[in-house]
Amino acid sequence: MKKELLYSGKAKDIFSTDDENLIVSVYKDQATMLNGARKETIEGKGSLANQISSLIFEKLNTAGVETHFVKRLSEREQLNKKVEVVPLEVVLRNVAAGSFVKRFGIEEGQSLSRPIIEFYYKNDDLDDPFINEDHIDLLQIATSEEVDYIKAETYRINDLLRAWFAQIGLNLIDFKLEFGKDKDGKLILADEFSPDNCRLWDADGNHLDKDVFRRDLGSLTDVYEIVLKKLEELH
Ligand code: TMP
Repeated sequence: MKKELLYSGKAKDIFSTDDENLIVSVYKDQATMLNGARKETIEGKGSLANQISSLIFEKLNTAGVETHFVKRLSEREQLNKKVEVVPLEVVLRNVAAGSFVKRFGIEEGQSLSRPIIEFYYKNDDLDDPFINEDHIDLLQIATSEEVDYIKAETYRINDLLRAWFAQIGLNLIDFKLEFGKDKDGKLILADEFSPDNCRLWDADGNHLDKDVFRRDLGSLTDVYEIVLKKLEELH
């Protein structure tokens, strides 16, 4: 199925297939932070992130969200539609945490009066800078109609995910999405959804996400395992 390596990212390798519209994503046992400045091999992480992301994307597909996810192929691999990635990191926040706390001096854990969306320009050389809708338009990263669509989809995905995580006792604090254009130029949800790119807290405020790695709070794979087990209960 896999033909040649197209791209090697921090968390995944991307391979071409015999079908020009399909790719294979291989999840790596690697955790990074600060744009790759800190990098560690964590055995089992790739498999857990792939399984968690596959379950979530299957549920999103079933709920009618258009995504790049086709199917999970193995522990580490999934089959995806090939997309032209829109170079934006779309962050949605329900609760103050992470860079929002640092930037605005708001206490971690404070619920926001409504979900908010932030954009970051996906560019490693520039360290993924914060970017607004005027910049996105001026730099021709996306049209204002595309930005409106991405925002509406992100709010809709948040409503779905928040409800699913609430059912298994988890609070979805924030997350990052990426979108891409499929072969017909349609914007669809791409990349992954796992505790690598979201924050999940349990009822006691325990962190079940990559903050365990960022803050040295214990075993990352132990908490990813908990999230996977809980998500499997949803099926
Ligand atoms: P932040 O609070 O560090 O800005 O992160 C907000 C959310 O976005 C958090 O769930 C982690 C996720 N995220 C990524 O997935 N990749 C990134 O490069 C960054 C900065 C954040």
